[in-house]
Amino acid sequence: MPSEQGKDPASLAALDVRQALVLTIDGPTASGKGTIAQRVAQALGFYYLDSGALYRVTALAATRAGVNLDDAPAIAAIGAHLPVRFEPDGRVLLAGDDVSDAIRTEQAGQAASRVAVHPALRDALLALQRGFQHVPGLVADGRDMGTVVFPQAALKVFLTATPESRADRRYKQLIEKGISANLMALLQDLQQRDARDQSRAVAPLKPAQGAYVLDSTGLDVDQTVEQVLNRWAARR
Ligand code: CDP
Repeated sequence: MPSEQGKDPASLAALDVRQALVLTIDGPTASGKGTIAQRVAQALGFYYLDSGALYRVTALAATRAGVNLDDAPAIAAIGAHLPVRFEPDGRVLLAGDDVSDAIRTEQAGQAASRVAVHPALRDALLALQRGFQHVPGLVADGRDMGTVVFPQAALKVFLTATPESRADRRYKQLIEKGISANLMALLQDLQQRDARDQSRAVAPLKPAQGAYVLDSTGLDVDQTVEQVLNRWAARR
């Protein structure tokens, strides 16, 4: 093994990125990606990237600055210098302001999916996302983790479930948080978001080549995590 001594910090950082293992979990809204990805990251002792939060924070920052969500160059400029921080306790900060709850509303999800159609914003967020790779590894969840951001990932999972069961899960999540919700409205909202995410020209939602497609309809969180970990252990 060559010694690391004498290497400059930039080349050590590059080595860190090259040696980090990556496991991607992509899928439609409310498929449980976030919960599963965090649990898998914890089990493997890996870092975790919630890429959707970056689109949510960008949309929130734009709304707060009075920028139109359809104004691609202005949105990309916000994404290129996004003052976002993920705290170890799970809080998300925008310019030091705790926006953890503000980015989780259904409205924030819709706004995120509107800004996510801009190719210039997706490009602007690439380096930021890739910067999350550190040894021993990273679990990244989103829509294009396996197809665009981490095409070299050691395992790519596409997590899905029927629209009805996803709407049902989202409904229970909201009710548990004390937020009133309407099941039919949630179902419509997620079908609309699926359609927008699947039909956009750049980085549309679809399984990466060679992805392990896991339908979690009828599986609970523990069972789903177990399936992913088994697949990880069995990867070539
Ligand atoms: O939790 P949920 O799956 O509903 O949403 P999310 O993962 O936080 O993502 C919010 C929105 O950001 C999605 O509807 C996508 O339009 C967009 N997104 C994306 O385009 N690419 C990603 N890698 C992650 C999210």
